[in-house]
Amino acid sequence: MTAQKIALITGANKGLGLEIARQLGKQGYVVVVGSRDERAGKAAVELLAKDGVSAHAVRLEVTNPDHIASAVKFVADKFGKLDVLVNNAGISLDWDGSPMTADKMRKTYDANVVGPWQVTEGFLPLLAKSDDARVINHSSILGSMGSVQTLWEQMGGHSTEGYATSKAALNMLTVLQSNKLKDKKIAVTAAHPGWVKTDLGSDAAPMEVQDGAKTVVGLVTMAREQFPHAALLHLGERLPW
Ligand SMILES: NC(=O)c1ccc[n+]([C@@H]2O[C@H](COP(=O)([O-])OP(=O)(O)OC[C@H]3O[C@@H](n4cnc5c(N)ncnc54)[C@H](OP(=O)(O)O)[C@@H]3O)[C@@H](O)[C@H]2O)c1
Repeated sequence: MTAQKIALITGANKGLGLEIARQLGKQGYVVVVGSRDERAGKAAVELLAKDGVSAHAVRLEVTNPDHIASAVKFVADKFGKLDVLVNNAGISLDWDGSPMTADKMRKTYDANVVGPWQVTEGFLPLLAKSDDARVINHSSILGSMGSVQTLWEQMGGHSTEGYATSKAALNMLTVLQSNKLKDKKIAVTAAHPGWVKTDLGSDAAPMEVQDGAKTVVGLVTMAREQFPHAALLHLGERLPW
């Protein structure tokens, strides 16, 4: 088994996932780029290589059990363990200009809740082989029950029923995974990146992607004794659930 740290990031072909891969790679992690589009994953690996990052692409639609099984086999055969899993892939269908529908709600939950659950379940045996395993669920302040009223006012009453409720579910999943996996020495927590300029965050967002990646990168690289289990973090600060 390799002594290098191996980090798999889902949805890492662009946006925050790609930048997290870049920043972790520059700190010496070998990164596995999860991408549902094979070509986009390979293009991301080429970009990362130009920055001196050791990266590998796996085809990973997080709602597809066959992709998850293949990705697990790839990491098992190549590295024999996984140190870091960032459940980053996510969607919002609340801002596409058309009314919310049951189908859009289901798609959102599939990508934002079922996906992170089943990807984590698939990688548990490999995470258990790491001596410092960490799972970071990329969540959002929009899923915080403690912030919903303030955010409602700030967003002018714009409702994000699909995205916000899916991230609230992801927050609960984070606590349950943390409780369940502590005995296996797999540390789990959730991150809010801030409002960041990406395809999801839009150009109106105030934060650049380099800063948006810092919350997850900080959680991955901090000393294990300081790791905030079962919490929602933004740049080192705990946010209300
Ligand atoms: N940007 C923000 O302001 C903000 C704020 C709070 C939280 N977040 C969270 O941060 C994470 C990354 O968002 P981002 O802003 O970087 O968005 P983004 O630029 O739209 O990137 C999203 C990534 O997720 C992938 N993805 C979506 N559904 C997937 C699925 N079912 N299976 C596999 N990959 C899938 C996308 O793949 P394709 O390229 O194939 O579409 C893309 O690689 C998300 O979980 C988001 O909720 C973002």
